[in-house]
Amino acid sequence: MPLVTSTEMFKKAYAGGYAIGAFNVNNMEIVQGITEAAKEVNSPLILQVSAGARKYAKHVYLMKLVEAALEDTQLPICLHLDHGDTFELCKSCVDGGFTSVMIDGSKHSFEDNVALTSQVVEYAHSHGVVVEGELGRLAGIEDAVNVSTADSSYTDPGQVQEFVERTGVDSLAIAIGTSHGAYKFKPGQKPQLRFDILEEVAKRLPGFPIVLHGASSVIPKYVDIINSNGGNMPDAIGIPEDMLRKAAKMAVCKINIDSDLRLAMTAGIRQHFNEHPEHFDPRQYLTVGRDNIRDLVKNKIVNVLGSDNKA
Ligand code: G3H
Ligand code: 13P
Ligand code: ZN
Repeated sequence: MPLVTSTEMFKKAYAGGYAIGAFNVNNMEIVQGITEAAKEVNSPLILQVSAGARKYAKHVYLMKLVEAALEDTQLPICLHLDHGDTFELCKSCVDGGFTSVMIDGSKHSFEDNVALTSQVVEYAHSHGVVVEGELGRLAGIEDAVNVSTADSSYTDPGQVQEFVERTGVDSLAIAIGTSHGAYKFKPGQKPQLRFDILEEVAKRLPGFPIVLHGASSVIPKYVDIINSNGGNMPDAIGIPEDMLRKAAKMAVCKINIDSDLRLAMTAGIRQHFNEHPEHFDPRQYLTVGRDNIRDLVKNKIVNVLGSDNKA
């Protein structure tokens, strides 16, 4: 089966009240851990690649790894550019075989965001590739750029219809209080999301797929393992799983997860080195990292996203 776009996945997810996991990939073990999990529970998948991942691993390696996973699992897999920030980057991923791209114009004015997003949509659609846009600005860290809470802003539901109509985007990422990275809320702060904004957006865009970025739960088990094996992470708070389940039942069809993968992999490797300080064969510790990713993703699919048995 060739790579697919997210169109059919989102249609079914919207109607079925579940969401597709969009997991960031950077190397072979991450691709294998995610796709093994999805295979075990028969789930469709979005694998996403950031500009940083492309720089780290090179486009061609990631492309071939995802093609290998496709052949190995026979699952419906969409390959997506995460946070494209220029037309040239999006074009290069369209030309290079991706089936979906995100153009993140959220840092621009509304008019500039519309212009940039429309340019990407025109090119992508003429090549059979779908496009995710973004309105509103998430706090947190993306590609080493730190957006402070003061510079973040919730999506204005009053703008979404005009944005979607003028640009022709296929899905829309919105800001309702999630943020990138492991530190989403201040220590002691109660996690809260603006479900009222999501509801209002859904009313104005009936049946239209909404995307949630910054949706890692920052699972305490992995932070504890990291810290009890030589790590030193300050209090890290993520998005509670019940909030993600609620969003998936609403208009949210794509839930982005990266930080949880990083934590699961690092926890496994740190623990392994603590227990086996004599080991130096990368296959030994990378196996533990990969297994942790597989277990994490399986749990997300079955207990949070609800996309099991939907492939
Ligand atoms: O939203 C950002 C993703 O977690 C990707 O992170 O740019 O460090 O690869 P990265
Ligand atoms: P997390 O940092 O919460 O995993 O978010 C990832 C993301 O939004 C990728 O685009
Ligand atoms: Zn993101």
